[in-house]
Amino acid sequence: MQATTTGDNRTGAATAEDGVRAMLEANARWAPGEPVDTTLADADRSLYILDSEAVGSIPPPVTVQGMLKTGFDKLIGERPEVLLDKLGERLAFERSGTRLYDALMCKYDTLAEEGEVPPLAVPLDAGGEDVPSTLQRIRNEEHQHFQMLTEAVRALGGDPTAQTPCADVGATASMGILQVVTDPRTTLAQSLNALLMAELADNAGWELLIALADEAGEDDLVQQFQRALAEEQEHLVTIKSWLTALVSSPTPTAAA
Ligand SMILES: [Fe+2]
Ligand SMILES: [Fe+2]
Repeated sequence: MQATTTGDNRTGAATAEDGVRAMLEANARWAPGEPVDTTLADADRSLYILDSEAVGSIPPPVTVQGMLKTGFDKLIGERPEVLLDKLGERLAFERSGTRLYDALMCKYDTLAEEGEVPPLAVPLDAGGEDVPSTLQRIRNEEHQHFQMLTEAVRALGGDPTAQTPCADVGATASMGILQVVTDPRTTLAQSLNALLMAELADNAGWELLIALADEAGEDDLVQQFQRALAEEQEHLVTIKSWLTALVSSPTPTAAA
């Protein structure tokens, strides 16, 4: 069989032009002439949506003692499972967040050692931190949030090791973020962009959790969650500023 060739004597630019021309020709030849009718596919999807069961269920409180001791019973009749489901979601996200920062620290350290990262400003109120120690602090805060949520679930009589439905769905939705950060080919800026998505979701997630805990009359939890939210807001500002600095750097580096 004759090997295909792009022509060894041609320049890269000419090859790229050929590629674009070939794509346009293929599009003109095979693209459907009319808009694709998705009516049947939509009808199939609707059938599955209506027939499917939910993604898991909320495990009941593990101890009667826990329910009584913590006043879990006062929530009964006010959909306490929603709060437990969302606590489980946040818990799983904070645990994954810790791993995300572990992976980001590895990428940063590797590129910084090679001199491939331009100077990045650290938050003004961070008291003399450099970039590695800022990353380490954020990583530790994610881990502390995970531990705090573990205690919160336990105090409400729930099982912090259970994967709740929202934890399951959240893990599926954020799977790509970890893949981006751990991919050896991605730049620091691309990894920070993925982290930005995580921190945006994190901030919104804490806001929702505060509202749910407030509705449930869990004042202690509200206070703890507000402290976590303040830290998450700072994470968001930091990641955003680093991403902006990298992509607008006048000197191209491997980090951007
Ligand atoms: Fe977080
Ligand atoms: Fe965060």
